[in-house]
Amino acid sequence: MPQPWNQNEVRRLLRAKTGEERQALFDRADAVRRKFMGDAVYLRGIIEFSNHCANDCLYCGIRASNGRVARYRLDDEDILTVARRMTGFGQTTVVLQSGEAPSPAGDVALGKLIARIKAETPLAVTLSVGNRSRDVYAFWRDCGLDRYLLRFETADATLFARLHPDCTLTARLRCLDDLRELGIQTGSGFMVGLPGERLETLADNILLCREFNLDMIGLGPFLPHPDTPLGGTANGYAADPEMHFLALAITRLANPDAHIPATTAFDALFPNLGRNLALARGANVFMPNATPAERRKDYRLYPDKPCVDESGERCARCVVGRLAVLGRSVGTGPGHSRRGRNGFGPETSLHPGVLVLPPARP
Ligand code: SAM
Ligand code: FES
Repeated sequence: MPQPWNQNEVRRLLRAKTGEERQALFDRADAVRRKFMGDAVYLRGIIEFSNHCANDCLYCGIRASNGRVARYRLDDEDILTVARRMTGFGQTTVVLQSGEAPSPAGDVALGKLIARIKAETPLAVTLSVGNRSRDVYAFWRDCGLDRYLLRFETADATLFARLHPDCTLTARLRCLDDLRELGIQTGSGFMVGLPGERLETLADNILLCREFNLDMIGLGPFLPHPDTPLGGTANGYAADPEMHFLALAITRLANPDAHIPATTAFDALFPNLGRNLALARGANVFMPNATPAERRKDYRLYPDKPCVDESGERCARCVVGRLAVLGRSVGTGPGHSRRGRNGFGPETSLHPGVLVLPPARP
């Protein structure tokens, strides 16, 4: 009998302790990724185009109160120059990310930039700039926006409120509903090991991704930044960092046809290896950093962020080398959502034969 995805089941998987149990889950996640998403890895070049932020998220290195950050906003021409180079590196999507700094003029300017990228390059466009009204999201969609990334960060509303003085979980989830209803491919996700997070929270995070039936899911370790209020608080899984991969693998099992990136933060935790391991344990997307080299040090969300001293070209070449080592190919085409193509919906229980869970321990 296939088992439904529920709290108990996900918690049981998260409690896998031995190397053997964990490896079995990693292998299963890899097999599910191969079956539903194939061996191709889609490359989405990320441009961190501005670090201005009005918010004060307690964990974030570019929070408004961090006076040690040199603030910048790239010119549209510079962004377009970087975007135009992406196709030559096999990157078929540009991800524009920034702090959350809403303003009517800025939001209109962003819409114009999206329209120019769509008119002047073959790239799909993903935006990741935080909470906005439904009207602003609709305007960006009408400008040509394909996708949006907005993590819910944690499914625990109380913890969310503690970490985000400027936002509630309800407001964040409303944004995700708006994006989906507007037909924008929607990505969300969470951090792993936030202070105050329990195993139940982690299970809820995974289940919330499934409930939203997300097109893309981004997750990665919480990494304490010294210039933030959480700078002195260790990641909750500091003593067992493999838990981050377990969370990733189980997220893949629960969401067989979502695009899941091997996020940069995995490399910060496991230098030079983290993203490779993520690709072998459920991930199928890679986001090379395309931010101009001279700005990278100013977009330090957490310490030891990799590639800070590299150029966009070096990152683009490095990823191709990584994929070759893993025996994976570079995805062609835009790598749009595959959600629903395999008949999966939020209500689906585990698919017999494909996703049968390891037997419960006595
Ligand atoms: N402002 C946009 C937003 O909030 O969605 C996009 C930028 S925000 C900096 C991108 C992501 O960085 C957040 O969703 C968060 O999960 C991650 N992040 C920020 N600080 C982090 C930290 N100290 N450790 C790990 N991830 C962090
Ligand atoms: Fe604004 Fe992190 S607090 S992007």
